[in-house]
Amino acid sequence: MIEYRNVCKSYGKKQIVKDLSFQIPDGQFVVLIGPSGCGKTTTLKMLNRLIEMDSGEIFINGKNIMSMNPEKLRSSIGYVIQQIGLFPNMTVEENICVVPKLLKWDKEKCRNRVHELLELVNMPYEEYAHKYPSEMSGGQQQRIGVLRALAAEPPIILMDEPFGALDPITRDSLQDEIKLLQNRLKKTVIFVTHDMDEALRLADCVIFMDEGEVLQMDTPEGILRAPANDQVREFVGKHVHNFTQSMLCSDLMKTKVIKATEDRKTLECVSLMNRYEIDSLVIVDEKDNYRGVLTIDAINQRGKAGNAIRELVTTDVPTVTVETPAKTAFDILTERHAEYVLVLTDAGKVAGIITKTSMSRALASFVWGDPA
Ligand SMILES: Nc1ncnc2c1ncn2[C@@H]1O[C@H](COP(=O)(O)OP(=O)(O)O)[C@@H](O)[C@H]1O
Ligand SMILES: [Mg+2]
Repeated sequence: MIEYRNVCKSYGKKQIVKDLSFQIPDGQFVVLIGPSGCGKTTTLKMLNRLIEMDSGEIFINGKNIMSMNPEKLRSSIGYVIQQIGLFPNMTVEENICVVPKLLKWDKEKCRNRVHELLELVNMPYEEYAHKYPSEMSGGQQQRIGVLRALAAEPPIILMDEPFGALDPITRDSLQDEIKLLQNRLKKTVIFVTHDMDEALRLADCVIFMDEGEVLQMDTPEGILRAPANDQVREFVGKHVHNFTQSMLCSDLMKTKVIKATEDRKTLECVSLMNRYEIDSLVIVDEKDNYRGVLTIDAINQRGKAGNAIRELVTTDVPTVTVETPAKTAFDILTERHAEYVLVLTDAGKVAGIITKTSMSRALASFVWGDPA
């Protein structure tokens, strides 16, 4: 765990970081966001002691960083910056091995590590290890910057606007990559950005800073749902809209669906409906592919107790896929007065069901934060 306790930093009379306190559990991806000049970089650099704080304390796993050797501290914290900072006269392999060499790893261990790291980002060793930074694109260079930070397997990684200088497409793919890496490697990451999109996409937890203070620390959903003040609200404003627009049917559906196969007998189905107090069943084939629904009305009108239900199954029920925008399901339920909408996977299996109740619950939980 990382803990900042009442950390302060001034330059001259200007207070840059004011009484900063927060805790970050191990393995969390924390995004530090706020307007330019609010103290984000200063906050990061105090952790690896590139900047010394004036007062307060920072602990890593209960240990005060001021009691640690600064070199040793830095080798346990990976650091990635926007300007990439690869050494131009060193190859990819040499760049990645800077910290391992300082730690006196032998040649073979270094080489194996470079192999392993390049593999993580799909850059084959044979093709890239001996290239110089100038022979690669900005995106590739920044990948190497990230790998270099990971090289000595530090438990903590600091990233200061690492993708800020890249074009949007490269940034997009590096964001995906870093999230995948994090899911596998479970590092504690503090990632600085001033881009809300990036924050919402990457963060387990967002720390919103302004003028050296924390205005809010919460999950991305928490920040969107209940911004702490007008300033945060303004910053996230358009994203709340995007966020609700981006809700999908899979976010609203109930995954427990009462199903029966089409070779069931009418009587069995009636008792199933009774047991669950429902008036229709979702019918699937033996491979669990969606076939239609069986309603109690159809049974009343045409059913015979011992017969298989196959002929009673209807397919005029509205269906959507898991990736359909939630708004579409909403429109179907309200405008077409459907009782429910079935949610299918792309492969045609039943993924869930959206009823008016499940939809209201999901929306309520979004608006008020109640458990769905
Ligand atoms: N060495 C320094 N001397 C004086 N002022 C500084 C120094 N470093 C940073 N600052 C000031 O501290 C404030 C916060 O800087 P910084 O932490 O880099 O902000 P951010 O990373 O959020 O953009 C800025 O106003 C900046 O001008
Ligand atoms: Mg900065």
